Amino acid sequence: MPLISPWRADFPAIDALLRQGQTYLDSAATTQKPQALLDALTRYYATGAANVHRAQHLPGAHATQAFEASRQKIAHWLNADAGGQIIFTHGATSALNLLAYGLEPRFAAGDEIAISALEHHANLLPWQQLAQRRGLKLVVLPLDGHGLIDLDAAATLIGPRTRLLAVSQFSNVLGAWQPLQRLLALARGQGALTVVDGAQGVVHGRHDVQALGCDFYVFSSHKLYGPEGLGILYARNWALEQLAHWQFGGEMVLDADYHQAQFRAAPLGFEAGTPPIASVIGLGATLDYLDSLDNQALAEHEARLHKRLLEGLQQRERIRILGAPELALVSFVAEGIHSADLAHLLTEQGIAVRAGHHCAMPLLKSLGLSGAIRVSLGLYNDSDDLLRFFAALDQALELLA
Ligand SMILES: Cc1ncc(COP(=O)(O)O)c(C=O)c1O
Repeated sequence: MPLISPWRADFPAIDALLRQGQTYLDSAATTQKPQALLDALTRYYATGAANVHRAQHLPGAHATQAFEASRQKIAHWLNADAGGQIIFTHGATSALNLLAYGLEPRFAAGDEIAISALEHHANLLPWQQLAQRRGLKLVVLPLDGHGLIDLDAAATLIGPRTRLLAVSQFSNVLGAWQPLQRLLALARGQGALTVVDGAQGVVHGRHDVQALGCDFYVFSSHKLYGPEGLGILYARNWALEQLAHWQFGGEMVLDADYHQAQFRAAPLGFEAGTPPIASVIGLGATLDYLDSLDNQALAEHEARLHKRLLEGLQQRERIRILGAPELALVSFVAEGIHSADLAHLLTEQGIAVRAGHHCAMPLLKSLGLSGAIRVSLGLYNDSDDLLRFFAALDQALELLA
């Protein structure tokens, strides 16, 4: 039975790519965009771009209004208390760097930061470098046999010296939801700050930051069918107060002298310089579009398609799947074949998947691998995309045998 995506036609690039002979299966890296977003960007640029929060003129007022309306939509999407808890950055990576620098004064030598063994470099390197700058200990929570952060080990490793826990909600390599509720409770029990990297998790289903109980939650717009160059940092009120100002420049200042200055509170105090205005407005339009979809039908489509992808790979003899992927993506290697060679043959056949270390080098190394192939799905993919992928995979495996 074919699995058809009723939303495919809303994403013009998917068929445009197909006409170029490309089957797009790399949505965990970045997604294609809905027409609703393209329309919003055209409308903004065609009717008058203007800077926000600065100008007294009408275009400036319109841009500021649309920009701030998006902030409210994002707060609503995450069930944040208020728009003021949403800080715009340039991506999940810059949000995590903001946290590592903004929280730096809170740490003293010997304090511990806990991350997990599966973190993307974006949620590893800022903390690793902070630990080096301040003489902190970076504690790495190990995984269990299913690719989940091991809760028993976490219970022994998260202790009174733990000042911060930073973990991924959904692994970009292993495709599994992490046991966040339990982990966050362990960290809270020790009075530690909690950071959730929602870069992959936010794309699947709706997540309530208040129910999750984290202090900070970050994601990138471009993985959620939104524009590039925009990241979201949610912080609950108490956590916002822990942040020192990080980047300095226009609009984040209350008063400036040659030798000293005073800065605004969040969110504007953490948005130095001209923000990505069109992207913020565009993400608002994307969320309106996503909000209009049938959530249950969407979840069912994603689950069915993933099941088909997983089963298809499991049926092929030489394929070894990494972890126990639950949704959205599957990473794998083929026994005896270098994944770069396999990736090359897939690319030649117009299959756009990701190959390499997936920005999680330590995880890949711990699995004894230098690289793997990752197939990842968006809401626009259908079973024909998978048929093309499997046909190309079989051909490549035969050639490399
Ligand atoms: C789990 C995870 N965290 C963080 C990031 C970083 O996102 P960005 O490159 O958009 O800043 C990614 C991107 O792949 C990711 O998958």
